[in-house]
Amino acid sequence: MTTNLLANELKLPCGAVIKNRIGKSAMSENMGSKGGNSNETLNKLYERWAKGGSGLLITGNIMIDHTALGEPRNVVFEKGHSDENLKEWTKAGTQNNTHLWAQINHPGKQSPKFLSKRPVSPSAIGLKPPLNRMFNQPRELTEKEIYDLIERYAFAAKISKENGFTGVQIHGAHGYLVSQFLSPRHNQRTDQWGGTIENRMRFVSLIYQAMRKEVGNQFPVSIKLNSADFQKGGFTKEESMTVVQHLSEQGMDLIEISGGTYEVPAMTGREKAVKESTKNREAYFLDYCEEVRKIVKTPLMLTGGFRTSKVMNDALASGACDMIGLARSIAVNPEFPNDLLSGKNVESPVKLLSTGLKFLDNIVPLEIVWYTEQLKMMGRGENPQPNMSPMKAAMNTILHIGMQGLKKVRAKEVVK
Ligand SMILES: Cc1cc2nc3c(=O)[nH]c(=O)nc-3n(C[C@H](O)[C@H](O)[C@H](O)COP(=O)(O)O)c2cc1C
Repeated sequence: MTTNLLANELKLPCGAVIKNRIGKSAMSENMGSKGGNSNETLNKLYERWAKGGSGLLITGNIMIDHTALGEPRNVVFEKGHSDENLKEWTKAGTQNNTHLWAQINHPGKQSPKFLSKRPVSPSAIGLKPPLNRMFNQPRELTEKEIYDLIERYAFAAKISKENGFTGVQIHGAHGYLVSQFLSPRHNQRTDQWGGTIENRMRFVSLIYQAMRKEVGNQFPVSIKLNSADFQKGGFTKEESMTVVQHLSEQGMDLIEISGGTYEVPAMTGREKAVKESTKNREAYFLDYCEEVRKIVKTPLMLTGGFRTSKVMNDALASGACDMIGLARSIAVNPEFPNDLLSGKNVESPVKLLSTGLKFLDNIVPLEIVWYTEQLKMMGRGENPQPNMSPMKAAMNTILHIGMQGLKKVRAKEVVK
């Protein structure tokens, strides 16, 4: 390789500079302390990643309401909450001139039964089977609650800046609350928050404005957005482009492109929404990114499927994106960014996981649970174990969720 574009720095519209083009995309760590505080295990994990060479580390989901968690042990930023470790965490993650951004999120209806009795959503529409067995039916948010949530997102951005994060990211993808507002399938409101795409994007637009007011013009504010939901009646590619254009005009510093929801998990390439041809050539959402590039100048980070230095460099060279987002490859090899920066041709061995039992693969979110175990090992100061059996992770999850819930789902799968 003659020129390694991954090693070039990137200047954002706010003036901040990222030392290279590799971004560790968010991975929910599920490692906070009870009560939603950060701790020593997160410090260790992020120190390891900061030494690994990425220019940017984006944290996993940080929630804005302790009563609405996406996963157990999420870190929470909300009023009245004090986290004495937070500055230690940001110190660890910003070593080596690394940017560390907090990903701010609310799960909406994607909060599992054992965490939320009655989750909230733009409309009272539940997740489709078999997910409705694991997630309770949501209730519709009131307008007052919507404004309160916007303030909470902004407050979390303020806390992030005060405690040493060098940027923030709104989680606007993967079927969480912002993504629920954007989707006509999940948002069937008839007031100013629903209907046209202009109304559906009001929530995220006001969140962006409120955050910007808190952090000022020189602090990176980003969003992770779906290219589409890949669902009938869901958020489409055209609507996504309208949102990108709008948020760009508002002054967004970086837009990270992903896709899918819990119902159609295209983000990890497991779902059919990602065409075989696309999977073979890596970078699940590259086609979409190429189209978006034509309409906005805002820096774009493309995430999902990247494995080889060649394809990453080609994507940067084509101008389709400005940063490469990596998740699973860095979960099993925290040194992968340094390898990529060395200029050699390198490839991550990451492939889709399977227990060997199709029904089990269908009911356990293996791509999440297996990798979460890898993060936990690094949090304990150990090395990840790329050879760990997927069956072991599946069994641990089943034990965790409880046999009761599983029995019902399994019965349904076997009948099929
Ligand atoms: C264990 C795990 C946890 C994840 N948690 C988050 C999260 O908190 N927020 C988010 O935006 N994406 C999350 N993702 C999705 C990744 O950021 C990324 O979009 C996806 O894994 C595709 O990138 P990859 O092919 O490089 O892994 C998670 C993925 C994994 C494997």
